[in-house]
Amino acid sequence: MRTVQVTEFGDSGVLDVTDAEKPDPGPGEVRIEVEAAGVNFADVMQRQGNYVGGPEPTYVPGMEVAGTVDAAGEGVEREEGSRVVAMTGRGGYAEYALADADSLFEVPEAMSFAEAAGFPVQFLTAHAVLHEWGGLEAGERVLIHAAAGGVGTAAVQLASAAGAEVFGTASTDEKLELAERLGCDHPINYVEEDFREVVAEETDEEGVDLVLDGVGGETFARSLDVLSHFGRVVAYGAASGEPGEVDTTRLLFENKSVIGFHLGNSLQRNPQRILQSVPELQQMLADGDLEVVVGQRFDLEDAADAHAAIENRETVGKVVLEP
Ligand SMILES: NC(=O)c1ccc[n+]([C@@H]2O[C@H](COP(=O)([O-])OP(=O)(O)OC[C@H]3O[C@@H](n4cnc5c(N)ncnc54)[C@H](OP(=O)(O)O)[C@@H]3O)[C@@H](O)[C@H]2O)c1
Repeated sequence: MRTVQVTEFGDSGVLDVTDAEKPDPGPGEVRIEVEAAGVNFADVMQRQGNYVGGPEPTYVPGMEVAGTVDAAGEGVEREEGSRVVAMTGRGGYAEYALADADSLFEVPEAMSFAEAAGFPVQFLTAHAVLHEWGGLEAGERVLIHAAAGGVGTAAVQLASAAGAEVFGTASTDEKLELAERLGCDHPINYVEEDFREVVAEETDEEGVDLVLDGVGGETFARSLDVLSHFGRVVAYGAASGEPGEVDTTRLLFENKSVIGFHLGNSLQRNPQRILQSVPELQQMLADGDLEVVVGQRFDLEDAADAHAAIENRETVGKVVLEP
């Protein structure tokens, strides 16, 4: 089978398309014939060698795949050919991937494999940072950075559906048009305007109740500035390459909270806290109240182009590889 490996840390050119043996499912596992593999920002950071606790080369990236069950390991009763999506940890950039049988979600006929591959990481993260971690309530104001991105497009829709007033930032007007279509009430082009000034102006200086920050660095510092008294920031990523820094004295005087979130570690330690959102998310998708925005599709062989597009901020929504 064809697969994509990272043989050393480096730029997107280190992604190596190669042949490998089809993996055999072990006890409790299934083998999935991959129709679409999700590409995540974390895959890019891991390939660069910039991801805390990330894998050492040589490895096959790819933490989520959608496709059909091709073989089942000992103890697993799964019909071959059933349409599934799964989180794989890694190994997803391949024609076949292994997954734990109890981590599978069914893919309804009405949903494409590309859409299905865009569901687990970004929608589970968006729901968790908004609700289980962020504590969003109807009528609150939320600011979502990278509002046209993968997590961003999911979060904008979920926040809007929850009755929040949604502020969103992005680097281009095209990205903001997408965010607006998905329910962003206050699209802000942060390249042209200081988002702190826009938020201050549009909230009568009150600020927002919640910020979702997957960017870090300077953006994180500014996120604290736009928080209202009692506001919360959920820090869930560092797309800028820089972590955010916190002055705890300031937090206590302003009654502001900073909350961290990591999907993989939460799933390991408290899966129920994450997975409780799945039935609601599946229902919303089935009812057409949510959409998985698949922004770009690449052939498996073009994984390097997919990574370069993400690094260059050229993508919106979900990026998938199709073997
Ligand atoms: N904690 C978790 O479990 C978890 C789960 C999923 C994702 N994440 C994190 O969440 C963030 C978003 O992930 P995603 O997969 O949905 O990615 P994404 O939003 O589709 O892509 C990242 C976006 O971040 C913005 N950005 C700002 N500074 C950037 C920079 N220096 N380089 C590249 N992009 C930059 C860009 O949007 P603009 O052009 O609009 O600025 C870019 O399109 C990432 O930091 C990711 O690692 C964390």
